[in-house]
Order: sequence, then C-alpha cells, then structure tokens
Amino acid sequence: MRKPFIAANWKMNTDSQYALELASGLEKAIADIQGVDVAVCPPFVYLQSVAKSLSVDGNVAVGAQDVYFEGNGAFTGEISCEMLKDVCCSYVITGHSERRHVIGESDELINKKTKAALEAGLKPILCIGELLEEREADKTSEVCEMLNRHICLIFKREADKTSEVCERQLREGLKGISEQELANVTIAYEPVWAIGTGKTATSDQAQEVHEFVRGVIAELYSKEAAENIIIQYGGSAKPKNTKELMSCKDVDGLLVGGAGLKVDSFYEMVKITE
Ligand code: G3H
Repeated sequence: MRKPFIAANWKMNTDSQYALELASGLEKAIADIQGVDVAVCPPFVYLQSVAKSLSVDGNVAVGAQDVYFEGNGAFTGEISCEMLKDVCCSYVITGHSERRHVIGESDELINKKTKAALEAGLKPILCIGELLEEREADKTSEVCEMLNRHICLIFKREADKTSEVCERQLREGLKGISEQELANVTIAYEPVWAIGTGKTATSDQAQEVHEFVRGVIAELYSKEAAENIIIQYGGSAKPKNTKELMSCKDVDGLLVGGAGLKVDSFYEMVKITE
C-alpha cells in the first residue's frame, strides 16, 4: 500500500511573515490527519524559520525547491545538501520544469543533484513532464515536403512524444541510483502545459502517464520497486480536481503550486486525500 504524499511548492512566493503563518496554519489544520504525508517547500531564505516553527513530531515536513550537488566551495549562490539538512529539510525537489526550462538545467545536472540528495540522506522529488508542443506532437501532424516539384502532404504520426520525453527524463534522472536508494525517491509527473495555467490534465491523461512511469520503473528496477514508488501529479491541482486525480490507480499524491499558498485550499486537498 502506497501512502499518499502531498507537497506544496511555494516557488518564489510568500514573505517571511506569511511563510510562518502558512506553515503554522497548515500544521494546526492537519494535526489529526494520519493517512497522508505532507510537506511544504518554501523558498531557501525561509526554510530555517519555517522548519524551526514546526514541531518535530508534527505532520508537516519541510523540503527545498532545489539544491546543488557539490558539498561546499566556490559555487556562488548555490546551496548544498548538508546546508539543507542543517536547517531540518527532509525533502528536495529536483528537475522542476521551471528549473529545466527557465533556468536551463540539463538531465545530467538534475541527475547529479538527485544522487547528491540521496547520498546526503535527503528525499528527492524528481519532476518530469512534457512541454505543450511535445504533448501536441502526439496528435497527427501534417508535414509538407517539396518532392520533384510536387507538394506532397505526408501525414505522419509522431512517435509518442510525451512518453519519449518522460522516459528520457526518468532514465537520465535516475542514472546510477540503486533500487535501495529509489525507496527514498518520489516522482512528480507535471505536464508543463498544466502548470499555473488552470488547465489540469484529465484524470485519464494523468493515469496514462503515471502507469507508463511505473512501467519504466519496473523495467529499470523491478516490479516491486514500481509498485512501491510514489508518483505525484502536479499542474493546476486544486481542491476541485483533487478527488478525481487521486482516484486514479497510479496517482499517489500531488505536487501543488498555487493552491498550496493558502491554508484553506491546501488543507482541503489533504483532507480529500485522507
Ligand atoms: O510544483 C508545482 C507545480 O509546478 C504545479 O504548480 O499547481 O501552480 O500549477 P500549479
């Protein structure tokens, strides 16, 4: 049995006061909830105060939104795994699409971060997901080509691009990670076109990719590893669609952006999932 896991990624939001209000409000609200693991991922600068404000045996864990893979040294602006542990972080998000596509992180860098996190005893949430154009390439595409002065219309079914992208991000992201270490990894499937757009993947779309991800894990590791791994969905998840998403066989939790910035909406999602 996989225990549902819901994490709120606050991204570059909140200020010091609101971060504390949000964390303590949530901690109070979910004090009696047992059936769901819950984490919040504040911006780096609020990690320590948020972690300190939460009780050690409470229901809210703390995660970081990113990490650097080196231990220490001349890496201006970066934060190490040890630093995260020092301020009581237990989770860290790696490979978020905003880091892949806004900051330009490669699969190789994401793999190094994920491995470093595991080696340090942190639990990475490895994000994968396709862009809108990759999702749309799955539809029949019409390609025009000039051939011997004739225009030929070639209808071509692209290889399933969503699966291709997710599989590549998974294989590359998990390179060199053992099955034993995998037990501490959460995968978050976040279709990039659904992030912050209000467009949620339908439960069928989410289930299809989650099942595919589990299949890739089975190939890379074992059937048992695939059965045990937690796969979150992320992308405009909110109270209204939580029940439907969480009813999918292979959706084990949510990585929540916008709806995680208010105690009420995030609490509601946790409560629905319980
Ligand atoms: O990390 C969270 C995801 O990017 C989802 O963000 O819920 O605002 O769409 P969102």
